[in-house]
Amino acid sequence: MKHLIVANWKMNPSTLEEAKDIFNQVKETGAVICPPFVYLSALGANGAQDCFYEDKGAFTGETSFLMLKNLGVEYVILGHSERRKYQKETDAIIGKKIKASLAADLKVILCVDRISQIKNALKKIENWKLKIGNLVIAYEPLFAIGTGKACPPERAEKMRVAIKKVLGESVLVLYGGSVNSQNAKDYVAKASFDGLLVGGASLKPKEFIDIVKIAC
Ligand code: 13P
Repeated sequence: MKHLIVANWKMNPSTLEEAKDIFNQVKETGAVICPPFVYLSALGANGAQDCFYEDKGAFTGETSFLMLKNLGVEYVILGHSERRKYQKETDAIIGKKIKASLAADLKVILCVDRISQIKNALKKIENWKLKIGNLVIAYEPLFAIGTGKACPPERAEKMRVAIKKVLGESVLVLYGGSVNSQNAKDYVAKASFDGLLVGGASLKPKEFIDIVKIAC
């Protein structure tokens, strides 16, 4: 696959049956599929939507980076804007999660809508450069998430360039925010992103398969 396509199912769907139905239709695409934690095992998915920075212990309700690793999960989304908003996650907390995940050789997809979030999250990770191959940045402008108003590709491209300036050319940068089969090409071809982080459209198997086909 030429580009990295990631499906963020968020808190959907409501039953395992539906989750299996969607998963079975998209699993051959080669995309990273990030379902809710409760479905990870049953699906054998390769991505997760978050993790906690301690490996185990008295942290009720949390799921550790180590549990994901031991389950065979490869990628973890961290710092999603919805977690920043609803769970009040700060750059410092996200930084701890990144540090623990990279140390366990999980691939981290760090979601940001501005450069300062990258700098702040990486501040206390001395050796992040050594792990740069396992760090992916998803540029997700707040106004474009779940609104149907995708970011103009020219504007998104400026951020892609700025992110590579900070982290180096080798880091993969994805675009996320109201991606669909109509606009997917704009981001991977026109704006030269390395891939896409897809929310709503990733729950519609036909639409998602089209996105993957267009982007590859
Ligand atoms: P939508 O594709 O639904 O706008 O969501 C984007 C997103 O938040 C992916 O992480």
